[in-house]
Amino acid sequence: YTAELDASDIEKGTYPHYMLKEIDEQPAVIRKIIQQYQNESGQLVIDQDIVDAVDQSDRVYIIAAGTSYHAGLVGKQLIEKIAHIPVEVHIASEFAYNTPLLSANPLFIFISQSGETADSRQVLVHVKKLGYKTLTVTNVPGSTLSREADYTLLLHAGPEIAVASTKAYTAQIAVLSILSEVIAKKRGLEVNFDLIHELGIVANAIEVLCDSKDEFEAIAREYLSTTRNAFFIGRGIDFYVVLEASLKLKEISYIQAEGFAGGELKHGTIALIEDGTPIIALATQESVNLSIRGNVKEVVARGANPCIISMKGLEMEEDRFVIPEVHEILTPLVSVIPTQLIAYYAALHRECDVDKPRNLAKSVTVE
Ligand code: G6P
Repeated sequence: YTAELDASDIEKGTYPHYMLKEIDEQPAVIRKIIQQYQNESGQLVIDQDIVDAVDQSDRVYIIAAGTSYHAGLVGKQLIEKIAHIPVEVHIASEFAYNTPLLSANPLFIFISQSGETADSRQVLVHVKKLGYKTLTVTNVPGSTLSREADYTLLLHAGPEIAVASTKAYTAQIAVLSILSEVIAKKRGLEVNFDLIHELGIVANAIEVLCDSKDEFEAIAREYLSTTRNAFFIGRGIDFYVVLEASLKLKEISYIQAEGFAGGELKHGTIALIEDGTPIIALATQESVNLSIRGNVKEVVARGANPCIISMKGLEMEEDRFVIPEVHEILTPLVSVIPTQLIAYYAALHRECDVDKPRNLAKSVTVE
């Protein structure tokens, strides 16, 4: 299973940290995924058995932990919007003893960078006993979850060494977008965009962001170098991304951070806003652009220090950074990048051990 590896995959080279290297690798990872899932005539393809299993299911259950759970939330949007199959996303450690009422013909997708997470494996063993079909989406061929599930889709992201997951998250979303598209085609549904083309635009956009590191370092310095806490807000698909953004910041900078649905902060947590509390808002969705900006105004009125990251075409004067435009369903692949870099620089400024944060392990093989 080491055929895809060469020395540069596991060495830092000129990078000070694996995390920064892995963030920078994301455009190449997206391009590699396109290549790996494309046939000679340029069509996206996935193993026929997997396509049939997903197509025949009446509901998909995504099971995952940590960052992979957050990728699963985005995956739900992709599968529902593109392939029109209802999806539930569950935290692995909860599902194990709090199993929801299942549909008649469920398909289980386990998302796991390492393929070794015990919480996810526990669910896999349980649902296999019940006789359900299982698919693992993982970065590690031959991993436990890959071996034990009926089917595997690989991320092709190369080894991820930093404890905080970055390129695996974007790879998971990219692979789930391809799965959604292939299922939609199989079902005869109309997909009104060219996914290969759109993922190419995403890769270019990530490159632009990786070239803007100075700006994210400045944001981290200005907003996060001394703060006790920070909030991220977003609506719709941006909400899922801010959950990941806050996890990233917590993991490596130890700042107490929370991600909220834009409209929800006012139902309690707004009590925590003080003079200067950083609020980082994502605005990549046209349908909620004005409402998320309304939420920013609510917290600014209570003294918060806002940092709005918007997408080209939706930008307004007060925005701190504008990311390049990509297809609205693929924005998480791009909007997450500033938040990864901001977390990285916040951790650096606070002199934290970026690649090996306290109390955390890269893969957790105990329940
Ligand atoms: C650990 C890591 C997280 C990761 C989670 C799930 O807690 O510290 O970064 O997201 O496990 O890992 P998996 O390998 O299943 O994606």
